[in-house]
Amino acid sequence: MNEVSAGVLPVSTLLSRRSVKLVGEPGPNDEQIEAALAAAVCAPDHAKLQGWRFALVRQPDILAVGEKAFSVLEGLGKPLTPEKQASTRFWLKDLPLLVAMAYQVHHDHPKVPVLEQTLSMGAAVMNFENAMHAMGYSSFWSTGLGSYTDEMAEYFGFDSLDYQFVGYLGVGMPKNRVIPADRPDPWSVASWFKAP
Ligand SMILES: Cc1cc2nc3c(=O)[nH]c(=O)nc-3n(C[C@H](O)[C@H](O)[C@H](O)COP(=O)(O)O)c2cc1C
Repeated sequence: MNEVSAGVLPVSTLLSRRSVKLVGEPGPNDEQIEAALAAAVCAPDHAKLQGWRFALVRQPDILAVGEKAFSVLEGLGKPLTPEKQASTRFWLKDLPLLVAMAYQVHHDHPKVPVLEQTLSMGAAVMNFENAMHAMGYSSFWSTGLGSYTDEMAEYFGFDSLDYQFVGYLGVGMPKNRVIPADRPDPWSVASWFKAP
């Protein structure tokens, strides 16, 4: 094996990840969840703000989160249709792990604009998803379930004055066969820059 192929080999794990929404048991155990969290906190983090927050939810509390989101949305005059409620309940009913995610917002930080804090949170979530994939699980990032309401953020203890909620990850084993994703040609998004 030459140096290049040795370097590319671990990357193949990243290349085979795809999001899978319908997952069921078994879910990751405590040790595996801790490993994925350890990967999340390896995200690039300007000024070591460590603002990432993950609220871990198992059954039957996952079902309770769904019902809470329905009632919050209804209370805000944005009720989900009966069909959407049914498909959401179907998604949640066998889900072994739901992760509600937010980051602490440092407003007016002298060195780290909020955009960088947002990017760091995205990187942490991606590390978590890739770690789960490397351990054989699938995940799906959703901003449904009232993600953009203060009420749902506060339900998880994320005061919306201090935290930005970024949605949920569902994690488990795919219920159906996973077909490899169709990805773009890497060179369709990159080119070498030459100084003029
Ligand atoms: C921040 C964020 C929020 C998302 N929210 C939703 C969502 O609410 N519903 C949905 O169908 N997909 C959502 N997606 C997309 C899926 O998580 C997933 O990335 C997409 O289905 C493509 O699959 P892939 O990750 O295998 O490319 C979201 C993605 C991101 C990055």
